[in-house]
Amino acid sequence: MNGSGTILVTGGAGYLGSHICKALAAGGYTPVVYDDLSTGSRDLVQWGELELGDICDRERLSEMFLRLRPDAVVHLAGLVVDPVSIFEPDNYYRTNMVGSLTLFRAMAEAGVYKLVYGSSAAVYGMPEVNPVDEDQPLDALTPYGTSKMMAETTLPDFARVHDMDWLALRVFNVAGADPDREAGRPSIDHTDIMSATVRAALGKTKAVTIFGTEYETEDGTPVRDFVHPTDVADAFVRAVAHVLSGGPSGLLNIGSGLGHSVKEVIAAVVRASGQDVPTEDGPMRPGDAPEIVADIDLVKEILGWAPKMSDLDTIAASAWQRQTADCVL
Ligand SMILES: NC(=O)c1ccc[n+]([C@@H]2O[C@H](COP(=O)([O-])OP(=O)(O)OC[C@H]3O[C@@H](n4cnc5c(N)ncnc54)[C@H](O)[C@@H]3O)[C@@H](O)[C@H]2O)c1
Repeated sequence: MNGSGTILVTGGAGYLGSHICKALAAGGYTPVVYDDLSTGSRDLVQWGELELGDICDRERLSEMFLRLRPDAVVHLAGLVVDPVSIFEPDNYYRTNMVGSLTLFRAMAEAGVYKLVYGSSAAVYGMPEVNPVDEDQPLDALTPYGTSKMMAETTLPDFARVHDMDWLALRVFNVAGADPDREAGRPSIDHTDIMSATVRAALGKTKAVTIFGTEYETEDGTPVRDFVHPTDVADAFVRAVAHVLSGGPSGLLNIGSGLGHSVKEVIAAVVRASGQDVPTEDGPMRPGDAPEIVADIDLVKEILGWAPKMSDLDTIAASAWQRQTADCVL
């Protein structure tokens, strides 16, 4: 792909953001990261400049937009730990919802009308139909999911007033690591099952907790759609090209299209690592759907995107290799 232009990536110092900056740079774009480094890391800002700032700081955003005049924005900055959001709703609404509105307002003031928003599968809550397509009703069950949903639902309103081109990518469960060991991996706070299993395989925790074994799924544990961050980054680069060319705005699922249970993830890490992974049973968590898997027909059609590295064994092997390599360093 041969793109050009400056792309502001909010949250670009994080796990997904660093993969996206790397892919944007490889695609010919100049990424600039806007991040407060609250969970991200300066070391991960390798493909462009860092603008240090809070997504809720309107003056800082306006000053930066007027100086940089980016061609488009990829918006990822936010708080991301779904179970924690239940106990900190104010933080999650402030950062993910108020922060997004503050960003959209600063963009409009500076005349920047191209946006790719990093939304989440959490907006679907407990879908009645799987795989879930973009027309299914939204039913977010946690403050995290609701904050992502609220930010997403403002986009058509902003676009009507400001003639903005936008895509919201509803990203499913990102797991795995950059095979080149350059872009980031999930921070220690992430509660995702792949990271938790890798930590248990390394002996950093005594066991991986399986939250619920009596769901109505084949093996009783929740089923999720895991997608590799390199694949997700590819989708975002295509989305940037799409909005820059004035393509139609809308919502797109980004997943592998495959469902894997928690027990299958643990088995994949056992295969990748050759280690035993002790498990312990925990209670079902509020807001955990039995199953959520992406229908990815629309993104294939609109962006010509398909996952290439998102089979479970590839994801588990990359997560394991990265974690063990980082431990040695
Ligand atoms: N990782 C996933 O599985 C997943 C799935 C769906 C959607 N997403 C979305 O992708 C985005 C990135 O997630 P991630 O997994 O890379 O998480 P992450 O925590 O690694 O990245 C979030 C980044 O946002 C920054 N940030 C947080 N609060 C900020 C603030 N107030 N001002 C400026 N910067 C701030 C952090 O420092 C960090 O660099 C999020 O918006 C998340 O909702 C992630």
